[in-house]
Amino acid sequence: MTLVEETTSGKYEKPDFSKYENKAATAPAYFSVHDLHAYYGESYIVQGVSFTVHEGEILALLGRNGAGKTSTLRAIARLESPQATHGEIWLDHQHLHSMSSHEAAKAGIQLVPEDRRIIPGLTVEENLQLAQIIEPVGWSLDRVYELFPRLGERRKQEGVTLSGGEQQMLAIARALVRDIKVLLLDEPYEGLAPVIVDEIEKTLNIIKQQGITTVIVEQNAIRALMLADRAVILDTGTVVFDGTAQEVLDNEALRAEYLAI
Ligand SMILES: Nc1ncnc2c1ncn2[C@@H]1O[C@H](COP(=O)(O)OP(=O)(O)O)[C@@H](O)[C@H]1O
Ligand SMILES: [Mg+2]
Repeated sequence: MTLVEETTSGKYEKPDFSKYENKAATAPAYFSVHDLHAYYGESYIVQGVSFTVHEGEILALLGRNGAGKTSTLRAIARLESPQATHGEIWLDHQHLHSMSSHEAAKAGIQLVPEDRRIIPGLTVEENLQLAQIIEPVGWSLDRVYELFPRLGERRKQEGVTLSGGEQQMLAIARALVRDIKVLLLDEPYEGLAPVIVDEIEKTLNIIKQQGITTVIVEQNAIRALMLADRAVILDTGTVVFDGTAQEVLDNEALRAEYLAI
């Protein structure tokens, strides 16, 4: 795929987003976030974010460093910080906005955080078994090892001794063994060699084929756009673009303004 066309064509005009407003309220998609606001103490960070994702779709949530991507994912997963003060989050007709993080996880939201949080002192298999302690459970370990043969080979090895790529696979696998509907990935490619990124991208496509809906946050925006169906771009905690991944790949001015690529 040709990603960056060497065009200097035209000025980028700010799109009209009014057509997206209230979309979540009027036509709930499988997963929708509507007018979400969240604070760290007095700091107002997530400033009215809305987007929708259809079942089985991959959405790339992009934006420069500090744009509010991680904060948005954390607010969606109902973590305590940042504190969401306003907005609605709907997943398959369930309202996550009234749930605790624990309840949201049970309802099918799984956040794979940037630092992966592999539990020290536990083997690969024990990390996965621990995730299955709470009902409802999702994929079996056999199914996980089929998707990630390297995790199967290393099932008796301590999780934190794996390579970065393998730890990322384990972090994703840990989400899959829960009964998952939406996978939230925060910078899954960070610090990984391109061949490992290829491998993880392949597995994310397989996960998509299994019907799981994914939101991927990535600094490596081109790679995320190659994987994603749609893209939302954030800037200072607000949505500045909502469209197809291909539109972002084709729009050099948009990428330069909001993604610095
Ligand atoms: N725990 C926190 N307390 C206060 N401010 C924070 C905290 N975490 C992030 N921020 C601020 O929120 C803004 C958005 O951060 P973040 O969501 O991490 O952005 P991104 O993931 O897009 O890089 C930044 O200005 C950052 O400094
Ligand atoms: Mg972040």
